[in-house]
Amino acid sequence: MAKAKIQFPRGFLWGTATASHQVEGNNKNNNWHAWEEAGKTADKSGLACDWWGGRWREDLDRALETGQNAHRFSVEWSRIQPEKNRWDEGALNRYRDILRGLRERNMTAMVTLHHFTNPLWLENPSTDSGGGWENDETPQLFADFVRKTVSALKEYTNLWVTINEPNVYVYSAYVEGAFPPGKQDLNIAFKVMVNLVRGHALAYKAIHEIQREARVGMAHHYRAMSPKNTKSPLDHWVVKAQSSVFNDLFPNAARNGKVKFLWKKVEIPEAADTQDFMGVNYYSRDQVAFNLKMAGELFGKHSFPKDADLSETGFIANEPEGLHEAIRWANGFGKDIIVTENGVEDAADEMRPRYLAEHIAQLWRAVNFSWRVKGYFHWSLVDNFEWERGWTQRFGLWELDIETQKRKKRKSAELYEEICKTNSLSSKMVEKYCPEAMEKIFPD
Ligand code: FCB
Repeated sequence: MAKAKIQFPRGFLWGTATASHQVEGNNKNNNWHAWEEAGKTADKSGLACDWWGGRWREDLDRALETGQNAHRFSVEWSRIQPEKNRWDEGALNRYRDILRGLRERNMTAMVTLHHFTNPLWLENPSTDSGGGWENDETPQLFADFVRKTVSALKEYTNLWVTINEPNVYVYSAYVEGAFPPGKQDLNIAFKVMVNLVRGHALAYKAIHEIQREARVGMAHHYRAMSPKNTKSPLDHWVVKAQSSVFNDLFPNAARNGKVKFLWKKVEIPEAADTQDFMGVNYYSRDQVAFNLKMAGELFGKHSFPKDADLSETGFIANEPEGLHEAIRWANGFGKDIIVTENGVEDAADEMRPRYLAEHIAQLWRAVNFSWRVKGYFHWSLVDNFEWERGWTQRFGLWELDIETQKRKKRKSAELYEEICKTNSLSSKMVEKYCPEAMEKIFPD
């Protein structure tokens, strides 16, 4: 077939995303360390990718050498504020080093301020008022932490994510119970949602007070959903109901200052209009069936279609059109859009090349609709610690040997390199790295 190429706009951000607890190693003062020690995870994070020991340097070199012009990482609250009344300037200096390292490499930095982990003192307070985000004091404590951190780092970036995937955090920690504190209680979940919105709003205001040119958003996990039985009105209803809670609740709250959940409603006027951009994390699409037995999950049973292109551990179905849908959805909020995460776990790197190419093709379709997409961050740069799933899932463009800390470039890293360096995806690349995706991406 004739050669074809899809080209991205000049200045498009190409990068990868990471998070403190997943890459730093020796992170011992937060709720996830305690969770690991309690045997609630498949493995322990241990040294992770040893970024705290300095290996961020070699990994950012890898990113730079392969054409990435941006990187998203998170700062660890429990390092910066190890006790309620103590700040660690040394920790802030290390983050300054990383940011300086990005600047030296001419890479744009995006900093996430909360990525799932809480300091131990916050999660287990000495009072009996409840821990972590259940506690009504937490939004203000978070804002204090944000103020301190942003003041210290503002010289090096103006792109901030306040909270990563608040919906996944609430669902995993307070509905499913796989994240600490492992509760299954919709009332507490609601309280946590309200406090996360309050925390985000206070953080948004604090950041803009400190840095006028700041661009602040949340990273929203968008889950595409379709009715399992397209003829069933109940399946249609449950998709709508679930999507309006899981996908819409947080960005709506940051737009209109209202948190609506089932029959509950809380007004948080200070949260209105508190996003400068929409961060979108997209991984997969689910089929949802109405199921009366699943009250705790709001009556929806999620599954993947029988013929789905499934990832190694069955965690993700390759549904690239869902990324296009996610960006269309984000565009409805009228702000710039950045894809803050997208990727797949695949140690053998058999599926990732086509997953990557097919998603980039959908990203381009969205750009072509003139939706305001400004960048794409692949999850992730190097294999890292995948929460309760430990090291059983490998999301890296580079493979990591956790015993030796050796990295090995996967084929997908080569494909991503060609994409980043040419700011495009071509039929030649697809033919070379994932010919099986040719028909889908570049049909004759
Ligand atoms: C997202 C998380 C990220 C990583 C990927 C695979 O939900 O934000 O930390 O675990 O999933």
